[in-house]
Amino acid sequence: MSLVPYVENSIPALSKLHNSSAQFRFANHSLRVAQDWRQLGVAAVVWDAAVVMCMYLELGQVELKGKVAIELGAGTGLVGIVAALLGARVTITDRAPALDFLQANVKANVPADRQASVVVAELTWGERLERFPAGGFDLVLGADIVYLEDTFPALLETLEHLCSGGTAVLLACKIRYRRDSDFLDMLRQRFRVEEVYYESQRDIHIYKAVKTTPCRDL
Ligand SMILES: C[S@@+](CC[C@H](N)C(=O)[O-])C[C@H]1O[C@@H](n2cnc3c(N)ncnc32)[C@H](O)[C@@H]1O
Repeated sequence: MSLVPYVENSIPALSKLHNSSAQFRFANHSLRVAQDWRQLGVAAVVWDAAVVMCMYLELGQVELKGKVAIELGAGTGLVGIVAALLGARVTITDRAPALDFLQANVKANVPADRQASVVVAELTWGERLERFPAGGFDLVLGADIVYLEDTFPALLETLEHLCSGGTAVLLACKIRYRRDSDFLDMLRQRFRVEEVYYESQRDIHIYKAVKTTPCRDL
């Protein structure tokens, strides 16, 4: 599965995606995240949305220390790794084929004394959600996970399951197509959604969504 039609080296902006690793400095740590486009495609490269999400988390506007977080569609795991380094207990999730790669990146980048605060788990949106506590997270993180229209209902169902009224969802999005905005409209039917950050160089928006409590009939 590819996110965009892709021929190696044809688009200079995408060439960084087939480097075997990408390096960053976040949360006072030097991170080297392995990439493997050829084997795993979109799940094994760091997308700009993940980088901007990490920049946003570093700003400190969202409390991470001691918080219980889950990352959806984590890919290489960069966002979850940075959230753990900033003090959260994080469940980092993706579909089954991405998990070994993800686990290796976590192991390589999270110091031994923080490893216990990170769990890597399979979560395919909409499937077997009962394995995750309903409304059990302070924070749900997702970078560049709004792009496949077929997955929108399942993604929404997943967010509804994971969130209580006290959960903050942070979605870092590149709005490539009209359908991406359509997902935000779907989200607005169940969540209060606001843009909290925009990075113009990479054209990435960060939205915060909080579940609205359904009105009870009187
Ligand atoms: C564009 S990549 C973003 C990866 C990473 N978050 C980043 O920004 O670098 C989209 C991710 O969503 C995951 N994904 C796509 N469909 C999914 C589904 N139905 N359930 C769970 N994860 C899914 C892919 O495996 C991939 O890791």
